[in-house]
Amino acid sequence: MELGRDALLPRYQRIVDTCEPYLVTYPGNHGALDLRPFGLPIASERLYDPTSLRSRAVIDGLHHLDAFSFGGQEMLMPRWVLFDCGEFPGIVFGFGRTASALSPELRRAYHVEGAAHDDTFVPLSMWVAIRCAEQGAWFGHNLSSANYVPQPDPLPGLGTITKAYGVAVARVAKQYGATQWASHSVALHMTLGEMNLLGAYTPAHTHVETFTYRIDVDHERVTAPLRPGWSRPTEGGDRVIDAGDSDAIVALQDELERGARLRLHRVEVRGEDQPQRLWLVVAG
Ligand SMILES: CC(C)(COP(=O)(O)OP(=O)(O)OC[C@H]1O[C@@H](n2cnc3c(N)ncnc32)[C@H](O)[C@@H]1OP(=O)(O)O)[C@@H](O)C(=O)NCCC(=O)NCCS
Repeated sequence: MELGRDALLPRYQRIVDTCEPYLVTYPGNHGALDLRPFGLPIASERLYDPTSLRSRAVIDGLHHLDAFSFGGQEMLMPRWVLFDCGEFPGIVFGFGRTASALSPELRRAYHVEGAAHDDTFVPLSMWVAIRCAEQGAWFGHNLSSANYVPQPDPLPGLGTITKAYGVAVARVAKQYGATQWASHSVALHMTLGEMNLLGAYTPAHTHVETFTYRIDVDHERVTAPLRPGWSRPTEGGDRVIDAGDSDAIVALQDELERGARLRLHRVEVRGEDQPQRLWLVVAG
């Protein structure tokens, strides 16, 4: 599917006008990927091979991005984890700029202050996805955006466009992922497709109150929030789960293991001192 720049909402036009898409993966994977996601070419100099020293600075940038976005959540990635699980077998896709085009706040956050770094390419967002053994299936391992750093010139929509185009790069048919019930990213993931709940409570994960989901990818639907005329649902849903309600989360896990089929429908953001509320619908 092609998606011309003029078809995008202004916030996304600004991102494709002022940033460049990049991809980190082993070159042996290129043939299985779409290097022109929705018609947007990834320039050959923005293709980074993790086994090459040429990729060193951009990979340092990925770890700075990871540190300020995930460091506080006890999910910081050791360098070997990103190499073994993302950069080599899968994809790290996102948008970036050279350091000379960044605010002083971002140059500091990425450790690229000073003229010597002006031409260093800085990854401002990343979607890390790992291919599953199941045909067409990918696991979304990490989504981060430099909008997390307080700065005068944020790029609203950066996380959303990064995941949408990343899904196209990897030619994803089924996207699996795991997210915390309290995560502010749930609404973003929901914009890209129906999130079918696979698990609600996950002792296998560092954070037990993590749910696992599957999105059956439809490119029209993935790109809908990037185009005019789309809006998040603000009503509806059959039942609720409040982030932090451990008893309800464990009970929901029990229901899912007994065969219940549920989808996430919408996020209700409540007062500052109240956890977000997720509305579910009974599927099928
Ligand atoms: C989650 C994250 C990737 C979002 O990036 P972003 O560039 O802000 O994404 P977008 O601008 O596309 O935001 C999508 C929506 O989420 C909202 N949003 C983003 N971060 C939010 C936050 N911390 N709290 C509440 N809402 C938030 C935005 O307001 C936006 O809503 P809108 O479309 O109605 O304006 C970024 O905040 C981040 O790196 N967080 C830390 C890492 C993390 O938790 N990642 C998710 C793991 S699954």
